[in-house]
Amino acid sequence: MKKIALVTGGSRGIGKAICIELAKHLDLHILINYNSNEAAAKDTLAQIEAFGGSAEILKCDVSNAEDVEKTLNIWQTNNPEQGISILINNAGITKDGLFMWMPEADWSSVFNTSVNGFFNMTQKVIQPMMLQKFGRIINIVSLSGLHGQAGQTNYSAAKGAIISATKALSKEVAKKGVTVNAVAPGFITSDMTKDLDQTQLKKQIPANRFGEPEEVAHLVAFLASEKASYITGEIISISGGI
Ligand SMILES: NC(=O)c1ccc[n+]([C@@H]2O[C@H](COP(=O)([O-])OP(=O)(O)OC[C@H]3O[C@@H](n4cnc5c(N)ncnc54)[C@H](OP(=O)(O)O)[C@@H]3O)[C@@H](O)[C@H]2O)c1
Repeated sequence: MKKIALVTGGSRGIGKAICIELAKHLDLHILINYNSNEAAAKDTLAQIEAFGGSAEILKCDVSNAEDVEKTLNIWQTNNPEQGISILINNAGITKDGLFMWMPEADWSSVFNTSVNGFFNMTQKVIQPMMLQKFGRIINIVSLSGLHGQAGQTNYSAAKGAIISATKALSKEVAKKGVTVNAVAPGFITSDMTKDLDQTQLKKQIPANRFGEPEEVAHLVAFLASEKASYITGEIISISGGI
């Protein structure tokens, strides 16, 4: 039986590349989570099925505890013999703006998606992972969470919270064969960064280019693999040298 990986925000961008990489190279069954863009989720599923990979779509809003609870309970009832071995907390949004003018809604929606999304999803899977004595939690954070970025106080705070949660949780579960790590990308080509001025920003990047979602996916696949059993509590940057 294939191990199961749940990728939040697996329909587009970095999450989509992770779904494809894990299905293709680790031979996992993928639960492709999304919130609103069904066509994109179906496209990810079709791309996985095209090479003979195995996946299904799991729609829910990661920031909504009831929605997550209901969705994962239904999936578990329909799959009583199976458990989620790998969780990639990738879903995230930005609502950029200077802090002094930031509406409360822009603070809370960014925080709820990243931080409550991490809580809602991880709490549902952590106990079964510990019982089966194998688990991988990989949180997609950001350089903004490590260094702080002007215009992104909400996003930097949310990613910073997950960075600390990664370190703390890894210490609670390491003995049970569950690793918890975070990947901190710099500038990666996706819908999230499509309106940024690449020509200007490239000057800050030693590699002189934005990264591709597939490059992040390679790193995530390594951390998700059996080979990474002794790596936990780490925050690994992938940023072209920033
Ligand atoms: N791109 C970068 O340069 C960069 C850099 C550092 C970190 N990151 C992080 O990497 C992750 C992926 O970013 P990306 O660039 O791939 O973004 P993206 O292209 O905008 O994709 C975001 C994904 O998250 C999903 N999503 C958003 N809100 C959700 C919710 N409440 N519940 C479930 N799914 C939700 C979206 O699904 P729907 O469309 O269905 O809502 C979509 O699949 C994010 O955590 C982001 O902060 C990105």
